[in-house]
Amino acid sequence: MHPAPTTVTITGAGGQIGYALLFRIAAGEMLGPDRPVRLRLLEIPQGVKAAEGAALELQDCAFPLLAGVEVSDDPRVGFDGADLALLVGARPRTAGMERADLLAANAGIFGPQGAALNEVAADGIRVLTVGNPANTNALIAAAGAPGIPRDRFTALTRLDHDRAVAQLAAALDAPVADIAGVAIWGNHSATQFADVAHASVAGRPALDALADRFGGADAASAWLDDVFLPRVAQRGAEIISVRGSSSAASAANAAIAHVRDQVLGTGGRRVSAAVVSTGQYGVPEGLVCSFPVVGESGDYRVVEGLDLDERARARLDASVAELVAERETVRSLGAL
Ligand code: NAD
Ligand code: LMR
Repeated sequence: MHPAPTTVTITGAGGQIGYALLFRIAAGEMLGPDRPVRLRLLEIPQGVKAAEGAALELQDCAFPLLAGVEVSDDPRVGFDGADLALLVGARPRTAGMERADLLAANAGIFGPQGAALNEVAADGIRVLTVGNPANTNALIAAAGAPGIPRDRFTALTRLDHDRAVAQLAAALDAPVADIAGVAIWGNHSATQFADVAHASVAGRPALDALADRFGGADAASAWLDDVFLPRVAQRGAEIISVRGSSSAASAANAAIAHVRDQVLGTGGRRVSAAVVSTGQYGVPEGLVCSFPVVGESGDYRVVEGLDLDERARARLDASVAELVAERETVRSLGAL
């Protein structure tokens, strides 16, 4: 007999990422083949028709695990009894908009959504923020939900992690499955630090493999600084310029992997996720910062004790400084 359905609320469900997420969740790719799901599609009024269309298509798929689909533009209805919330809908940056304007617009979305989650979500709620700026939007949502433990709020840097894995595998001409231990530190922005210092390729240190590939440790280090890091950090912008709109299927894939690894665990395998800092690696408490993590017992735990050399420390500090500045901006807007 199947267990009771898990209620999953997706905001911005009528958008690009939503369309790439819904069918895979309903097919069991996020929570496994034995878990029925009830989907709640939360939109703003202008997005309701697109979400309703997706709901009709979901019905037409006759997914055995899909226990129901509801569409709403009211957060109190959309989050009612939610076990998992994927906060995808956000205000995109438009021409002439400064970062502070973007933060202000999103504070007006994620604050009230946090408050609604606080009121009506299930006791065990876990919340993943995808909508940008994802780390700070997660912070705002958590601040709006004082009754929900802060560590239930995470933000998506798994896409950056997967991009780094793929770039490393390509450079070494190695199968993606042979790469382990890559870490994304900091903000989901151009300041993020993709770190391979503790990574391995088929069990061999990645730095040794890169030195062989590029003809020495110095050449490997130059490739990491000049090619690998900017390519990973600016991949979102590259996708926008090539595709004409931001990453959608890859972002949905990463969101599914994030939730799956959180809920089902990683068996000790390291991935990356932005979680609420409790001071690990000197990151100020309360910031939503990306770290190397393992999934266990339904949550992410930061992997502690990794060495950060001077170069790594400086890069992490720069990204953390950006997160602190975003927090200050949001504070000055009265959203925290
Ligand atoms: P989209 O514009 O196609 O869809 C966004 C949807 O959100 C729209 O249907 C819109 O109506 C809805 N929406 C807006 N405000 C809402 C609100 N208050 N409540 C509910 N729904 C709301 O955008 P997309 O391509 O799906 O991207 C969504 C977000 O994800 C963007 O902020 C994008 O920058 C971000 N993103 C993050 C990552 C990441 O790795 N963290 C990767 C890719 C995209
Ligand atoms: C991505 O990393 O692909 C997105 O966050 C880019 C964006 O600005 O939407």
